[in-house]
Amino acid sequence: MVSGPRAPKGTYDLLPDDADERDLVVETAAVVFTAYGYRRIVTPEFEDTALFERGVGQATDIVRKEMYTFVDKGERSLTLRPEGTAPICRAYVEHGMHKLPQPVKLWYYAPMFRYERPQAGRYREHYQLGAEAIGAADPMIDAEIIAMLAQLYDELGIGDLNLAVNSMGDAACRPAYLALLTAFLKDRATELCGDCRERISLNPLRTFDCKQPACRAVLDSAPHIVDHLCDECAAHFAAVLDLLRRARLDPRTDFRLVRGLDYYTRTTFEFSSDSLGAQSGVGGGGRYDGLVEQIGGLPTPGVGFGTGLERIGLAMGERATESLGPEAYLVCFDDSRRAEMFELAQTLRRELLLEVELDLAARSAKGQLKQASRSDAECAVLIGLEELAPDVARVRDLESGEEHDVPIAELVTWFAEAEGEED
Ligand code: HAM
Repeated sequence: MVSGPRAPKGTYDLLPDDADERDLVVETAAVVFTAYGYRRIVTPEFEDTALFERGVGQATDIVRKEMYTFVDKGERSLTLRPEGTAPICRAYVEHGMHKLPQPVKLWYYAPMFRYERPQAGRYREHYQLGAEAIGAADPMIDAEIIAMLAQLYDELGIGDLNLAVNSMGDAACRPAYLALLTAFLKDRATELCGDCRERISLNPLRTFDCKQPACRAVLDSAPHIVDHLCDECAAHFAAVLDLLRRARLDPRTDFRLVRGLDYYTRTTFEFSSDSLGAQSGVGGGGRYDGLVEQIGGLPTPGVGFGTGLERIGLAMGERATESLGPEAYLVCFDDSRRAEMFELAQTLRRELLLEVELDLAARSAKGQLKQASRSDAECAVLIGLEELAPDVARVRDLESGEEHDVPIAELVTWFAEAEGEED
């Protein structure tokens, strides 16, 4: 039993094998996103609280209940980033990116902080890979960014994902729809759960998210927004669906897909996996044509997504992560030559970037050999063997047992040639 401090509830340590796998996911994302013209952006871990209140929306669960907000020593209210889109729009405005060729395509990889109830696939600190295309209203950019995310999942070997899409309308058609929905919900209020009754005046669209069977039944017969879009939004939605099919995707329209952030306009989408249980969303996003203006910029359309690294890990399933040992383990048979062994390790690392380990605990030669095989080293380099001349080392392949006696001064060349042969 560990009695000292533990990682805070809802957080986790990423141990080396898992960190290797995550690096692979992020490297794959970098390659895929670059092919679509996205460049990486890094924004601060915390922002002014007002950014999220204005950007994400006062009525959202994120702003009402989940933000890690604190007052700093200068009496400023700051918040650990709960999501990536508002900060990137802030950076777009702050750096005058509207002067660049549009759309500006940015991707990110960053931790997000939300005070949620922890469960499988849901953490209080989670990592997201995301992308935002700011400055283009064409439905082709919606389809392109969705296809890009689908390609990332494909490259990672995650098959079998469902793609749900919806349209949230815009400032022209949403108010009338909200009035219709609110009237419907008020009529049926007695059949709804307490949370949903509260949502009627606060944020009626969120009722679509409720998991209670009774509420779901009511919402099945509610007016659905796709049937109440203005002509422009309807045409946009139809074009996105057509382009997604042309990209060989299979979108399913889902009227429940309202998503938890208030900035969405028109397209929303989500990839989910049946194998993930309650937290089935692997990644999602949508269009946010009012957000840049909302936080002080010019009217500018935008579209993007976020996908959780933990959910990607779950969707990828158990895979045999191969943890490789060092390429060489130096073993010293003569205590008086340990400093010389250290020097040799440095030379091999510096000249060849060879992964070299050596004994750092003054073990006996036998102990060092045991360490070499425990660490899965490819070969041991034995220095100071009595039967060899002092300036010669023995390289022993720890798998085949094959041995070569090599002058120490020639080890760099010898390893360089051996590596060359392997390639
Ligand atoms: P979101 O749906 O809140 O959207 O989060 C995006 C993804 O992050 C989810 O699909 C899920 O994979 C992961 N995620 C969210 N919360 C958690 C959690 N507590 N634990 C583990 N994973 C989580 C956004 O954040 C938007 N900014 C996406 C976006 C970008 N929309 C437009 N551009």
